[in-house]
Amino acid sequence: MAEQISFEPPRGMRDFYPEDMAWRNRVFDAFRAAGEAAGFEPYDACVVESYELLARKAGEEVGEQIYHFNDKSDRHLALRAEMTPTLARMVAQRQGTLAFPIKWTAIAQCFRYERMTKGRKREHYQWNCDIIGEESVLAEVEVLGAACDALRRMGLSNADFRVHVSSRALLSELLAASGIPAALHAQVFLALDKRGKMPDEEIAAMLRDGGVDEAGVKATFAIMDLKTLDEAAALAGAPAEGARSGVEDLRELFRLAAIAGFADCLEFDISVIRGLSYYTGIVFECFDAKREFRAIFGGGRYDNLLTTIGGAPATAVGLGFGDVVVTELLKARFGEEAPVPKKGVYVGWMFPEQRDAALALAAKLRAQGECVNLALRKAKPKQFFSRAGASSCAKAVFLGPDDVAAGQAKIKDLATREETAIAL
Ligand code: HAM
Repeated sequence: MAEQISFEPPRGMRDFYPEDMAWRNRVFDAFRAAGEAAGFEPYDACVVESYELLARKAGEEVGEQIYHFNDKSDRHLALRAEMTPTLARMVAQRQGTLAFPIKWTAIAQCFRYERMTKGRKREHYQWNCDIIGEESVLAEVEVLGAACDALRRMGLSNADFRVHVSSRALLSELLAASGIPAALHAQVFLALDKRGKMPDEEIAAMLRDGGVDEAGVKATFAIMDLKTLDEAAALAGAPAEGARSGVEDLRELFRLAAIAGFADCLEFDISVIRGLSYYTGIVFECFDAKREFRAIFGGGRYDNLLTTIGGAPATAVGLGFGDVVVTELLKARFGEEAPVPKKGVYVGWMFPEQRDAALALAAKLRAQGECVNLALRKAKPKQFFSRAGASSCAKAVFLGPDDVAAGQAKIKDLATREETAIAL
Protein backbone atom coordinates (compact mmCIF):
# COMPACT_ATOMS: atom_id res chain seq x y z
CA MET A 1 0.00 0.00 0.00
CA ALA A 2 1.20 3.51 -0.78
CA GLU A 3 2.47 5.45 2.23
CA GLN A 4 -0.10 7.92 3.54
CA ILE A 5 0.91 11.45 2.54
CA SER A 6 0.31 14.08 5.21
CA PHE A 7 -2.50 16.49 4.36
CA GLU A 8 -0.78 19.24 6.34
CA PRO A 9 1.35 21.77 4.44
CA PRO A 10 5.09 21.65 5.28
CA ARG A 11 5.81 23.08 8.73
CA GLY A 12 5.61 26.86 8.78
CA MET A 13 3.90 27.09 5.37
CA ARG A 14 0.26 28.04 5.01
CA ASP A 15 -2.73 26.93 2.99
CA PHE A 16 -5.38 29.53 2.26
CA TYR A 17 -8.89 28.11 2.34
CA PRO A 18 -11.67 30.43 1.10
CA GLU A 19 -12.33 31.72 4.61
CA ASP A 20 -8.61 32.51 4.98
CA MET A 21 -8.64 34.31 1.64
CA ALA A 22 -11.27 36.67 3.03
CA TRP A 23 -8.74 38.06 5.54
CA ARG A 24 -5.88 37.90 3.08
CA ASN A 25 -7.84 39.86 0.48
CA ARG A 26 -8.79 42.48 3.03
CA VAL A 27 -5.14 42.97 3.96
CA PHE A 28 -3.85 42.87 0.36
CA ASP A 29 -6.60 45.27 -0.80
CA ALA A 30 -5.45 47.75 1.85
CA PHE A 31 -1.81 47.32 0.75
CA ARG A 32 -2.67 47.91 -2.89
CA ALA A 33 -5.00 50.84 -2.25
CA ALA A 34 -2.52 52.58 0.07
CA GLY A 35 0.34 52.03 -2.39
CA GLU A 36 -1.68 53.41 -5.24
CA ALA A 37 -2.99 56.35 -3.21
CA ALA A 38 0.60 57.35 -2.42
CA GLY A 39 1.80 57.07 -6.02
CA PHE A 40 3.84 53.87 -5.77
CA GLU A 41 4.10 51.87 -9.02
CA PRO A 42 3.63 48.10 -8.76
CA TYR A 43 6.46 45.74 -9.80
CA ASP A 44 7.08 42.04 -9.27
CA ALA A 45 9.80 39.43 -9.68
CA CYS A 46 10.31 35.69 -9.47
CA VAL A 47 10.50 34.10 -6.01
CA VAL A 48 13.70 32.26 -6.98
CA GLU A 49 16.95 34.25 -7.01
CA SER A 50 20.62 33.43 -7.34
CA TYR A 51 21.99 32.56 -3.91
CA GLU A 52 24.91 34.88 -4.50
CA LEU A 53 22.60 37.92 -4.51
CA LEU A 54 20.86 36.86 -1.30
CA ALA A 55 23.89 35.61 0.67
CA ARG A 56 24.43 37.85 3.67
CA LYS A 57 27.11 39.35 5.80
CA ALA A 58 28.21 37.19 8.74
CA GLY A 59 26.02 37.68 11.79
CA GLU A 60 22.81 38.56 9.96
CA GLU A 61 20.13 36.16 11.14
CA VAL A 62 18.32 36.18 7.80
CA GLY A 63 21.43 34.76 6.11
CA GLU A 64 21.12 31.54 8.06
CA GLN A 65 17.42 31.29 7.26
CA ILE A 66 17.67 31.20 3.46
CA TYR A 67 16.18 28.19 1.69
CA HIS A 68 18.70 27.33 -1.01
CA PHE A 69 19.37 24.51 -3.45
CA ASN A 70 21.26 23.61 -6.59
CA ASP A 71 19.23 23.15 -9.77
CA LYS A 72 19.91 20.38 -12.29
CA SER A 73 22.51 22.55 -14.01
CA ASP A 74 24.18 23.12 -10.65
CA ARG A 75 23.15 26.75 -10.37
CA HIS A 76 23.06 27.79 -6.71
CA LEU A 77 19.57 29.24 -6.26
CA ALA A 78 17.49 30.42 -3.32
CA LEU A 79 13.95 31.38 -2.39
CA ARG A 80 13.95 35.07 -1.54
CA ALA A 81 13.80 35.85 2.17
CA GLU A 82 12.97 39.49 1.45
CA MET A 83 12.41 41.60 -1.66
CA THR A 84 15.07 44.27 -1.14
CA PRO A 85 18.07 42.54 -2.82
CA THR A 86 15.83 41.69 -5.81
CA LEU A 87 14.64 45.30 -6.01
CA ALA A 88 18.26 46.49 -5.91
CA ARG A 89 19.16 44.04 -8.71
CA MET A 90 16.22 45.18 -10.87
CA VAL A 91 17.08 48.84 -10.33
CA ALA A 92 20.78 48.23 -11.03
CA GLN A 93 19.88 46.52 -14.31
CA ARG A 94 18.08 49.64 -15.57
CA GLN A 95 19.95 52.29 -13.61
CA GLY A 96 20.92 54.17 -16.78
CA THR A 97 17.34 54.53 -18.03
CA LEU A 98 15.14 54.92 -14.95
CA ALA A 99 14.02 58.45 -14.06
CA PHE A 100 14.86 58.85 -10.39
CA PRO A 101 13.45 59.12 -7.82
CA ILE A 102 11.30 56.05 -8.35
CA LYS A 103 8.56 54.82 -6.02
CA TRP A 104 7.90 51.10 -6.39
CA THR A 105 5.66 48.67 -4.54
CA ALA A 106 5.16 44.90 -4.48
CA ILE A 107 3.46 42.19 -2.45
CA ALA A 108 6.15 39.53 -2.36
CA GLN A 109 5.98 36.04 -0.92
CA CYS A 110 9.13 35.47 1.13
CA PHE A 111 10.62 32.35 2.71
CA ARG A 112 12.71 32.16 5.87
CA TYR A 113 13.63 29.07 7.81
CA GLU A 114 12.55 30.67 11.11
CA ARG A 115 12.25 29.26 14.57
CA MET A 116 8.47 29.16 14.69
CA THR A 117 6.87 31.51 17.17
CA LYS A 118 3.73 33.62 17.25
CA GLY A 119 3.78 35.95 14.26
CA ARG A 120 6.63 34.12 12.54
CA LYS A 121 6.08 31.61 9.74
CA ARG A 122 8.49 30.08 7.26
CA GLU A 123 6.60 31.77 4.46
CA HIS A 124 4.89 35.13 4.51
CA TYR A 125 3.72 37.80 2.14
CA GLN A 126 5.45 41.11 2.55
CA TRP A 127 4.19 44.38 1.16
CA ASN A 128 7.18 46.48 0.13
CA CYS A 129 7.22 50.21 -0.63
CA ASP A 130 10.56 51.68 -1.61
CA ILE A 131 11.76 55.03 -2.90
CA ILE A 132 15.09 54.95 -4.73
CA GLY A 133 17.06 58.02 -5.59
CA GLU A 134 15.76 60.52 -3.04
CA GLU A 135 17.99 61.93 -0.31
CA SER A 136 15.50 64.06 1.56
CA VAL A 137 13.53 62.83 4.57
CA LEU A 138 10.36 63.39 2.56
CA ALA A 139 11.05 59.89 1.17
CA GLU A 140 10.81 58.36 4.69
CA VAL A 141 7.62 60.36 5.28
CA GLU A 142 5.99 59.11 2.08
CA VAL A 143 6.86 55.48 2.83
CA LEU A 144 5.69 55.71 6.45
CA GLY A 145 2.56 57.65 5.47
CA ALA A 146 1.58 54.87 3.05
CA ALA A 147 2.04 52.20 5.75
CA CYS A 148 -0.06 54.12 8.28
CA ASP A 149 -2.70 54.63 5.59
CA ALA A 150 -2.80 50.86 4.93
CA LEU A 151 -3.39 50.20 8.64
CA ARG A 152 -6.26 52.68 8.68
CA ARG A 153 -7.76 51.09 5.57
CA MET A 154 -7.76 47.80 7.48
CA GLY A 155 -9.97 49.41 10.13
CA LEU A 156 -7.37 50.54 12.69
CA SER A 157 -6.80 54.09 13.91
CA ASN A 158 -3.59 55.99 14.68
CA ALA A 159 -4.16 55.16 18.37
CA ASP A 160 -3.91 51.41 17.65
CA PHE A 161 -0.27 51.35 16.54
CA ARG A 162 3.05 53.02 17.31
CA VAL A 163 5.89 53.55 14.86
CA HIS A 164 9.20 53.49 16.77
CA VAL A 165 11.89 55.42 14.95
CA SER A 166 15.60 55.92 15.37
CA SER A 167 18.59 56.47 13.14
CA ARG A 168 21.69 54.39 12.58
CA ALA A 169 23.53 57.56 11.62
CA LEU A 170 22.62 59.00 15.03
CA LEU A 171 23.64 55.79 16.79
CA SER A 172 26.98 55.91 14.97
CA GLU A 173 27.48 59.50 16.10
CA LEU A 174 26.67 58.49 19.67
CA LEU A 175 29.03 55.50 19.58
CA ALA A 176 31.78 57.66 18.07
CA ALA A 177 31.21 60.32 20.74
CA SER A 178 31.66 57.54 23.32
CA GLY A 179 35.01 56.54 21.82
CA ILE A 180 33.90 53.43 19.88
CA PRO A 181 35.64 53.41 16.49
CA ALA A 182 33.49 53.42 13.31
CA ALA A 183 34.93 50.09 12.17
CA LEU A 184 33.12 48.38 15.07
CA HIS A 185 29.71 50.01 14.58
CA ALA A 186 28.25 47.35 12.26
CA GLN A 187 29.08 44.68 14.86
CA VAL A 188 27.56 46.79 17.62
CA PHE A 189 24.32 47.21 15.60
CA LEU A 190 23.95 43.47 15.10
CA ALA A 191 24.56 42.80 18.80
CA LEU A 192 22.16 45.52 19.94
CA ASP A 193 19.44 44.26 17.61
CA LYS A 194 19.36 41.11 19.78
CA ARG A 195 18.37 43.14 22.85
CA GLY A 196 15.14 41.87 24.35
CA LYS A 197 15.68 38.52 22.62
CA MET A 198 18.67 37.55 24.81
CA PRO A 199 20.00 38.68 28.23
CA ASP A 200 22.11 41.85 28.35
CA GLU A 201 25.13 39.84 29.65
CA GLU A 202 25.16 37.89 26.38
CA ILE A 203 24.91 41.12 24.39
CA ALA A 204 27.84 42.48 26.40
CA ALA A 205 29.81 39.32 25.61
CA MET A 206 29.03 39.76 21.89
CA LEU A 207 30.25 43.35 22.06
CA ARG A 208 33.50 42.29 23.79
CA ASP A 209 33.99 39.50 21.21
CA GLY A 210 33.52 42.13 18.50
CA GLY A 211 36.41 44.15 19.95
CA VAL A 212 34.58 46.72 22.08
CA ASP A 213 36.47 47.44 25.31
CA GLU A 214 34.89 47.52 28.79
CA ALA A 215 34.33 51.30 28.77
CA GLY A 216 32.75 50.98 25.33
CA VAL A 217 30.38 48.25 26.51
CA LYS A 218 29.27 50.46 29.40
CA ALA A 219 28.86 53.46 27.09
CA THR A 220 26.83 51.39 24.62
CA PHE A 221 24.32 50.40 27.30
CA ALA A 222 24.17 54.01 28.51
CA ILE A 223 23.25 55.06 24.96
CA MET A 224 20.45 52.49 24.96
CA ASP A 225 19.03 54.23 28.05
CA LEU A 226 18.54 57.57 26.23
CA LYS A 227 14.87 58.46 26.27
CA THR A 228 14.51 61.59 24.18
CA LEU A 229 15.91 63.11 21.04
CA ASP A 230 17.15 66.08 23.09
CA GLU A 231 19.17 63.77 25.36
CA ALA A 232 20.60 62.06 22.27
CA ALA A 233 21.42 65.44 20.69
CA ALA A 234 23.26 66.56 23.83
CA LEU A 235 25.39 63.39 23.89
CA ALA A 236 26.10 63.38 20.13
CA GLY A 237 27.29 67.00 20.15
CA ALA A 238 27.40 69.23 17.10
CA PRO A 239 27.75 67.46 13.73
CA ALA A 240 30.92 67.93 11.71
CA GLU A 241 30.95 70.98 9.43
CA GLY A 242 28.58 70.38 6.50
CA ALA A 243 27.58 66.89 7.71
CA ARG A 244 23.94 65.91 8.06
CA SER A 245 23.24 64.72 11.59
CA GLY A 246 20.95 61.89 12.64
CA VAL A 247 19.22 64.23 15.08
CA GLU A 248 18.42 66.75 12.34
CA ASP A 249 16.97 64.00 10.12
CA LEU A 250 14.75 62.73 12.92
CA ARG A 251 13.56 66.23 13.81
CA GLU A 252 12.69 66.80 10.16
CA LEU A 253 10.85 63.46 10.07
CA PHE A 254 8.69 64.45 13.06
CA ARG A 255 8.02 67.88 11.58
CA LEU A 256 6.94 66.51 8.19
CA ALA A 257 4.91 63.68 9.75
CA ALA A 258 2.92 66.33 11.66
CA ILE A 259 2.05 68.01 8.37
CA ALA A 260 1.17 64.65 6.80
CA GLY A 261 -1.07 63.77 9.76
CA PHE A 262 0.63 60.83 11.43
CA ALA A 263 3.04 62.37 13.95
CA ASP A 264 0.74 61.13 16.73
CA CYS A 265 1.74 57.52 16.05
CA LEU A 266 5.50 58.16 15.83
CA GLU A 267 7.89 57.95 18.76
CA PHE A 268 11.65 58.22 19.11
CA ASP A 269 13.09 54.92 20.35
CA ILE A 270 16.87 54.53 20.40
CA SER A 271 16.50 50.74 20.75
CA VAL A 272 15.26 50.33 17.15
CA ILE A 273 18.29 48.98 15.29
CA ARG A 274 16.95 46.48 12.70
CA GLY A 275 18.57 43.13 12.02
CA LEU A 276 19.64 43.80 8.43
CA SER A 277 23.10 45.30 7.88
CA TYR A 278 22.27 47.46 4.88
CA TYR A 279 20.46 50.25 6.76
CA THR A 280 22.40 53.49 7.00
CA GLY A 281 20.06 56.20 8.33
CA ILE A 282 16.58 56.46 9.79
CA VAL A 283 15.20 53.06 10.84
CA PHE A 284 11.71 52.24 12.07
CA GLU A 285 9.53 49.46 13.35
CA CYS A 286 5.79 49.50 13.95
CA PHE A 287 4.05 47.67 16.79
CA ASP A 288 0.48 47.45 18.05
CA ALA A 289 -0.10 50.04 20.79
CA LYS A 290 -0.42 47.38 23.51
CA ARG A 291 2.77 45.58 22.36
CA GLU A 292 0.99 42.22 22.29
CA PHE A 293 2.30 41.21 18.87
CA ARG A 294 5.58 41.17 16.98
CA ALA A 295 6.57 43.95 14.57
CA ILE A 296 3.85 44.86 12.07
CA PHE A 297 6.27 46.48 9.65
CA GLY A 298 9.86 47.63 9.57
CA GLY A 299 12.26 49.43 7.30
CA GLY A 300 14.53 52.39 6.88
CA ARG A 301 17.12 54.11 4.74
CA TYR A 302 19.71 51.97 2.95
CA ASP A 303 21.91 54.26 0.90
CA ASN A 304 24.67 51.75 0.05
CA LEU A 305 22.87 48.63 -1.15
CA LEU A 306 23.04 49.49 -4.84
CA THR A 307 26.82 49.89 -4.69
CA THR A 308 27.18 46.76 -2.54
CA ILE A 309 25.70 44.66 -5.32
CA GLY A 310 27.76 46.43 -7.99
CA GLY A 311 25.37 49.16 -9.15
CA ALA A 312 25.96 52.89 -9.29
CA PRO A 313 25.37 54.82 -6.04
CA ALA A 314 21.70 55.50 -5.23
CA THR A 315 20.02 56.50 -2.02
CA ALA A 316 17.05 54.39 -0.93
CA VAL A 317 14.31 54.16 1.69
CA GLY A 318 11.76 51.42 2.11
CA LEU A 319 9.71 49.16 4.27
CA GLY A 320 8.45 45.60 4.50
CA PHE A 321 5.00 45.02 5.98
CA GLY A 322 4.13 41.35 6.55
CA ASP A 323 0.68 39.82 6.32
CA VAL A 324 1.03 37.47 9.32
CA VAL A 325 1.24 39.81 12.30
CA VAL A 326 -1.31 42.31 11.04
CA THR A 327 -3.81 39.51 10.35
CA GLU A 328 -3.33 38.19 13.90
CA LEU A 329 -3.94 41.72 15.17
CA LEU A 330 -7.05 42.24 13.03
CA LYS A 331 -8.51 38.87 14.09
CA ALA A 332 -7.92 39.69 17.77
CA ARG A 333 -9.62 43.03 17.21
CA PHE A 334 -12.49 42.21 14.84
CA GLY A 335 -13.02 38.43 15.25
CA GLU A 336 -11.82 35.38 13.36
CA GLU A 337 -14.20 35.92 10.48
CA ALA A 338 -13.27 38.68 8.09
CA PRO A 339 -16.10 41.13 7.48
CA VAL A 340 -16.80 40.59 3.77
CA PRO A 341 -19.27 42.96 2.13
CA LYS A 342 -22.00 41.01 0.32
CA LYS A 343 -22.18 41.47 -3.41
CA GLY A 344 -23.52 39.81 -6.54
CA VAL A 345 -26.55 37.67 -7.36
CA TYR A 346 -27.22 34.03 -6.56
CA VAL A 347 -29.25 32.47 -9.40
CA GLY A 348 -31.17 29.24 -8.66
CA TRP A 349 -33.64 26.97 -10.44
CA MET A 350 -36.29 24.47 -9.37
CA PHE A 351 -36.41 21.75 -12.04
CA PRO A 352 -34.12 20.71 -14.92
CA GLU A 353 -36.51 22.48 -17.32
CA GLN A 354 -35.49 25.88 -15.86
CA ARG A 355 -31.76 25.23 -15.95
CA ASP A 356 -31.14 26.72 -19.41
CA ALA A 357 -33.14 29.83 -18.58
CA ALA A 358 -31.11 30.22 -15.36
CA LEU A 359 -27.86 29.94 -17.31
CA ALA A 360 -29.12 32.49 -19.86
CA LEU A 361 -30.08 34.89 -17.04
CA ALA A 362 -26.65 34.42 -15.41
CA ALA A 363 -24.95 35.19 -18.74
CA LYS A 364 -27.11 38.30 -19.22
CA LEU A 365 -26.39 39.62 -15.71
CA ARG A 366 -22.67 38.87 -16.04
CA ALA A 367 -22.60 40.74 -19.36
CA GLN A 368 -24.08 43.71 -17.47
CA GLY A 369 -21.14 43.54 -15.06
CA GLU A 370 -22.91 41.77 -12.19
CA CYS A 371 -21.14 38.99 -10.23
CA VAL A 372 -23.31 35.87 -10.46
CA ASN A 373 -23.13 32.60 -8.59
CA LEU A 374 -25.21 30.16 -10.66
CA ALA A 375 -26.56 27.17 -8.71
CA LEU A 376 -25.18 23.99 -10.25
CA ARG A 377 -28.02 21.81 -9.02
CA LYS A 378 -31.80 22.07 -8.76
CA ALA A 379 -33.23 23.06 -5.38
CA LYS A 380 -36.48 23.65 -3.59
CA PRO A 381 -37.14 27.39 -2.97
CA LYS A 382 -36.62 27.18 0.79
CA GLN A 383 -33.39 25.26 0.42
CA PHE A 384 -32.16 27.71 -2.25
CA PHE A 385 -32.91 30.85 -0.24
CA SER A 386 -31.29 29.49 2.89
CA ARG A 387 -28.14 28.72 0.87
CA ALA A 388 -28.28 32.15 -0.77
CA GLY A 389 -28.61 33.82 2.65
CA ALA A 390 -25.46 32.05 3.86
CA SER A 391 -23.54 32.92 0.68
CA SER A 392 -21.55 36.06 -0.10
CA CYS A 393 -24.29 37.28 -2.48
CA ALA A 394 -26.35 40.40 -1.80
CA LYS A 395 -29.27 39.37 -4.00
CA ALA A 396 -30.94 36.17 -5.21
CA VAL A 397 -33.25 35.15 -8.01
CA PHE A 398 -34.97 31.79 -8.22
CA LEU A 399 -36.56 30.42 -11.41
CA GLY A 400 -39.58 28.12 -11.16
CA PRO A 401 -41.82 26.90 -14.02
CA ASP A 402 -44.16 29.92 -13.70
CA ASP A 403 -41.33 32.47 -13.95
CA VAL A 404 -39.95 30.92 -17.11
CA ALA A 405 -43.46 30.71 -18.62
CA ALA A 406 -44.04 34.41 -17.81
CA GLY A 407 -40.57 35.40 -19.09
CA GLN A 408 -40.07 37.34 -15.88
CA ALA A 409 -38.61 36.74 -12.42
CA LYS A 410 -38.02 38.60 -9.18
CA ILE A 411 -34.63 39.61 -7.82
CA LYS A 412 -34.68 39.67 -4.04
CA ASP A 413 -32.43 41.88 -1.95
CA LEU A 414 -31.38 39.40 0.74
CA ALA A 415 -30.88 42.08 3.41
CA THR A 416 -34.06 44.16 2.93
CA ARG A 417 -36.19 41.36 1.35
CA GLU A 418 -37.30 43.91 -1.27
CA GLU A 419 -38.12 42.38 -4.65
CA THR A 420 -37.76 43.86 -8.14
CA ALA A 421 -39.02 42.30 -11.35
CA ILE A 422 -36.58 41.48 -14.12
CA ALA A 423 -37.19 40.22 -17.66
CA LEU A 424 -35.60 36.90 -18.50
P1 HAM B 1 12.10 42.67 8.01
O1 HAM B 1 12.00 43.47 9.27
O2 HAM B 1 12.98 41.48 8.01
O3 HAM B 1 12.51 43.68 6.86
O4 HAM B 1 10.64 42.20 7.58
C1 HAM B 1 9.63 43.17 7.44
C2 HAM B 1 8.33 42.64 8.00
O5 HAM B 1 8.00 41.39 7.39
C3 HAM B 1 8.31 42.34 9.49
O6 HAM B 1 8.05 43.49 10.24
C4 HAM B 1 7.16 41.35 9.57
O7 HAM B 1 5.92 42.02 9.47
C5 HAM B 1 7.33 40.56 8.30
N1 HAM B 1 8.08 39.30 8.49
C6 HAM B 1 9.40 39.11 8.39
N2 HAM B 1 9.73 37.82 8.61
C7 HAM B 1 8.57 37.16 8.83
C8 HAM B 1 8.21 35.79 9.11
N3 HAM B 1 9.12 34.85 9.17
N4 HAM B 1 6.91 35.50 9.29
C9 HAM B 1 5.96 36.47 9.20
N5 HAM B 1 6.23 37.75 8.95
C10 HAM B 1 7.51 38.11 8.76
C11 HAM B 1 12.76 43.33 5.57
O8 HAM B 1 12.54 42.24 5.10
C12 HAM B 1 13.26 44.47 4.71
N6 HAM B 1 13.64 43.93 3.41
C13 HAM B 1 12.18 45.54 4.59
C14 HAM B 1 12.62 46.66 3.71
C15 HAM B 1 12.14 46.97 2.47
N7 HAM B 1 13.56 47.55 4.00
C16 HAM B 1 13.70 48.36 2.99
N8 HAM B 1 12.83 48.04 2.05
